[in-house]
Amino acid sequence: MNVFGVDIGGSGIKGAPVDLERGDLAEPRHKVLTPQPSTPDDVAGCVAEVVAHFGWSGPVGVTFPGVVTGSTIRTAANVDKSWIGVDAAALLGERLSGMPITVLNDADAAGIAEMTFGAGRGRKGTVIMLTFGTGIGSALFTDGRLVPNTELGHLELDGHEAEKRASTKVKDDKDLSWEEWAQRVQKYLAHVEMLFSPELFIIGGGVSRKAEKFLPLIKGVRAEIAPAELQNNAGIVGAAMAAGAR
Ligand code: BGC
Repeated sequence: MNVFGVDIGGSGIKGAPVDLERGDLAEPRHKVLTPQPSTPDDVAGCVAEVVAHFGWSGPVGVTFPGVVTGSTIRTAANVDKSWIGVDAAALLGERLSGMPITVLNDADAAGIAEMTFGAGRGRKGTVIMLTFGTGIGSALFTDGRLVPNTELGHLELDGHEAEKRASTKVKDDKDLSWEEWAQRVQKYLAHVEMLFSPELFIIGGGVSRKAEKFLPLIKGVRAEIAPAELQNNAGIVGAAMAAGAR
């Protein structure tokens, strides 16, 4: 069965129909730039455009880069603050002619996809997926079960929020070398490990495509560290999985 997945990010909004048996995109994804400011109405318009690109009609799963309880947005660190308090499923449902909408946190969606089809397949115990992008997202699993909205990117590191020290946006903005950035990521992973003692860290986000450039530089973390296998499509696939599971 195919279900549509959309990943709303700080810089791009991308989506595609997803083949839920294979856990992969059924067609190449379509991407539009996130409008600035990224207000609910403008972002909803972009989501509608991505869905319309495929002539899709049916269930749609959507990720959001903030805390989502039910389908209400509770935080918006890297998108317009006017999202806070918005029922995203209701808003998007109106724009998408009543198609059933499921909304969840972006890292949670990516984690769900990786735990079923990627680096976390069949893994028991504590597994933490971390996505590095505009911010840092987290998804915590115990014996394959998600604890949603963990927000570990906002842990304090060296007196700052971790995502203000170690996201890939910070790497780009400050023009950090792979070595400099890996050192920050290492410190962050050690901190998260101290708190949760996971067996496995799955590293996602666009940077997972370049895992060979920085994972070998990370030392002193006991847990296994694996790059996301679905790479930057994990959010789209996980969104569609969540919508398909309803
Ligand atoms: C948000 C998280 C999100 C992460 C990655 C953080 O700033 O608070 O909810 O998962 O960025 O987009």
